[in-house]
Amino acid sequence: MIISSTEEKSTYILEECDCTANTQKKYETVMCLGNGYLGMRSAFCEEIPEQTRLTLIAGLYDKQPHEEEELIPLPDVTPLSIAVEGEKISPLHKNSSEYSRSLNVRSGLLTYQYRYSPKDMEGDLLVKHSRFVSMAQKNLAMFETDIVSEGDFELELVSSINARITVNGTQHTFEEERTVLDNDLLWYGGRAAIAGTQFRVGSKMRIYVNGAEQEGIQRYSTERRIVSSTVRIKLSKGDELRIIRYATYYTANDIDWTGRDEDIVERTDSVCQKNFEYLLLESEKEWDSLWRTCDISVESDDASENLKLRLAMYHMMIMCPWQDDRVSIAAKGLTGMGYAGHVFWDCEIFNLPFFSYTNPMAARNLCIYRYRTLDGARRKARKYGYVGAMYPWESASVSGDEQSPEFKNYSPDNTPRRVTCGDIEQHVVCDVAYGVYSYGQVTGDRGFMKKYGLEILFETAAFWLSRLEYNEQKDRYEIRQVTGPDEYKEYVDNDVFTNYAVAWNLRTALDEIDRLRTEDTEAFNAFDKRLGLANLADGIGKKLPRLYLPTANDDGLIPQNDTYLTLKRIDISKYKNSGINRLIYRDYSLREIGGLMVSKQADLIQLFSLMPDLFPSDIIRKNFDFYEDKCIHDSSLSLSAFATVAARLGETDIAHGLFKGALDTDFGEHSTLCNEGIHAANCGGIWQTAVFGFAGIGVFEETLRIEPHIPLAWRNIAVRLSWRGCELQITLDNKNVTVESLNGKEIYVFVSGKEIRVNDRTTVTY
Ligand code: BGC
Repeated sequence: MIISSTEEKSTYILEECDCTANTQKKYETVMCLGNGYLGMRSAFCEEIPEQTRLTLIAGLYDKQPHEEEELIPLPDVTPLSIAVEGEKISPLHKNSSEYSRSLNVRSGLLTYQYRYSPKDMEGDLLVKHSRFVSMAQKNLAMFETDIVSEGDFELELVSSINARITVNGTQHTFEEERTVLDNDLLWYGGRAAIAGTQFRVGSKMRIYVNGAEQEGIQRYSTERRIVSSTVRIKLSKGDELRIIRYATYYTANDIDWTGRDEDIVERTDSVCQKNFEYLLLESEKEWDSLWRTCDISVESDDASENLKLRLAMYHMMIMCPWQDDRVSIAAKGLTGMGYAGHVFWDCEIFNLPFFSYTNPMAARNLCIYRYRTLDGARRKARKYGYVGAMYPWESASVSGDEQSPEFKNYSPDNTPRRVTCGDIEQHVVCDVAYGVYSYGQVTGDRGFMKKYGLEILFETAAFWLSRLEYNEQKDRYEIRQVTGPDEYKEYVDNDVFTNYAVAWNLRTALDEIDRLRTEDTEAFNAFDKRLGLANLADGIGKKLPRLYLPTANDDGLIPQNDTYLTLKRIDISKYKNSGINRLIYRDYSLREIGGLMVSKQADLIQLFSLMPDLFPSDIIRKNFDFYEDKCIHDSSLSLSAFATVAARLGETDIAHGLFKGALDTDFGEHSTLCNEGIHAANCGGIWQTAVFGFAGIGVFEETLRIEPHIPLAWRNIAVRLSWRGCELQITLDNKNVTVESLNGKEIYVFVSGKEIRVNDRTTVTY
């Protein structure tokens, strides 16, 4: 293990000591393993009720007729049944005690252990399982089980590949082969039922007693969709049994897929020659280099805050398709089937900034995914009668086609209602452009912008030009009949977030057209020929100045949309503090909620969070108070946006409270909101509150700025990030900011309004 000191242990290791059926799903999610290609929920090896066993591969979707694309749950390699004298054991069994489970987020290693006392027999069994999904070899998951016998027992072990997995009643795969190959390799081949994408799963068990490998003792069997290996073994008092299981997953989507099973078998065989410790070390080294580029340490009265912040970062690292630019980050990462593995604005607005600031290559891949889906976005624009690119509200495969379902059950009477997000939640179009542009700004990757990013910016701007509606009476352009981020308000006119984000999209496109014209005529001409840049610039020049941008009324309030301030007020305390998602639906239908002054999530505040300099701080403060009071935070995307804005306002107590709420959404002791999967956007939001809110890091006039607002309970925060090729360690306490350039590059930084030059290590008192 790379991390061992006590101090580090407490803030990198999540421990669970009480094993109950009620918290199973939660910890399967929170302790999920992965490497961005493979995601594996941390269900126990032993069979127990209430488990959601799930292994997913990024980008491996299937689409049933009349349904949307959905990630395919793959055959499960986790099962290892252990029976002692005929009785199956598990950590939940009444004869089990001394249970504990832990996830080390620094190394990606999961372990759990317990003591099992067989009925009416002398002595116990001490069972310890360890497992990891390799960060070094994307196709590999490793399992180790150590059993110390304190008596004389006969054990039966059954390890299997189990492909009896359905999601919501849909069987997504066809079996192609189920067998045992030479060298004890359990083998399962199949393909996606409709898409036809092939996959192969291999699993091999090796058994050692007191260090000596036991060969030739495995007996094989297959039944429908299951292939298993069974071992019977006698243990005497003091014996140590070690079971090592290697599992590999390959799919025809893999960049290095050859289509030949022999190649996969050969690769799997070769990995099976290595021991568990070697493969773990190899993976830990990768983890170590990832953490080195992004770690944040917080010295706080409550050490669990740092652990939860790191858990959020860990989750972003296991959901990021590091090497693949054909897939992106789904709303639940690879931890659950929620939202079917679809990609939302969550990625560009909440997750992408973390990668732009800490791992530019990964961020670049995420942006290229949106470039690859441009054609789908163009198709959607045409379908709705517009031009340019209209990104889907929910995206999945590189087809880029809309995957938002048409119907869902949300009403109190359970009647399916039409889901309108795919039609009218259009802010995603500017969110994609904003995310991609911000990547370019943070990294300075002009090459990327010219090859991919600018096209996204221009095509989204073209969409908005065709989308704007002219209001003759008021002589202005408007955007009517949309849903903003606050999804409790459908079909509204002039949603404040959307209108300002569109203005940003158009203005930035125009600025970039001007820049290209003067800086790179050749590129300008090439774009102009393909996309009609001169026309686009003309159109923006005409329409943008007349785009309606809601401003503060006499009371200092900026209306969230044309009607929000006229809606009926109700007492929302019952819903706001309930800890139950969407409790309000038990009392009101969505239509009724549309008529109430109640918000699901940050809308105007989300705008403040993205564009902190748009309004003076007294207006931000006034609106923060007003809208926070109306917001139930019924979306996990909400708290962090409010927290970031509160921190920037200097309201550190309020911000800290909201931040803790965001931490506890998935990682709180009593929360079970993440049973069906982690809230990926919230993980990004947590990072943003720490970095953009409390550390006050951001961009001002193309320069990095730092305006700290550290909570009282924090003594300091140290943030690692990179800005335009300069690797920085920024440490802040309530008096000083120290900026250290780690790779010797010189940069200028604004610290609380003062410009400073850093080429080594500089401390400023603020
Ligand atoms: C939120 C959206 C979000 C989606 C996926 C919804 O509940 O309102 O803003 O994109 O979940 O996380």
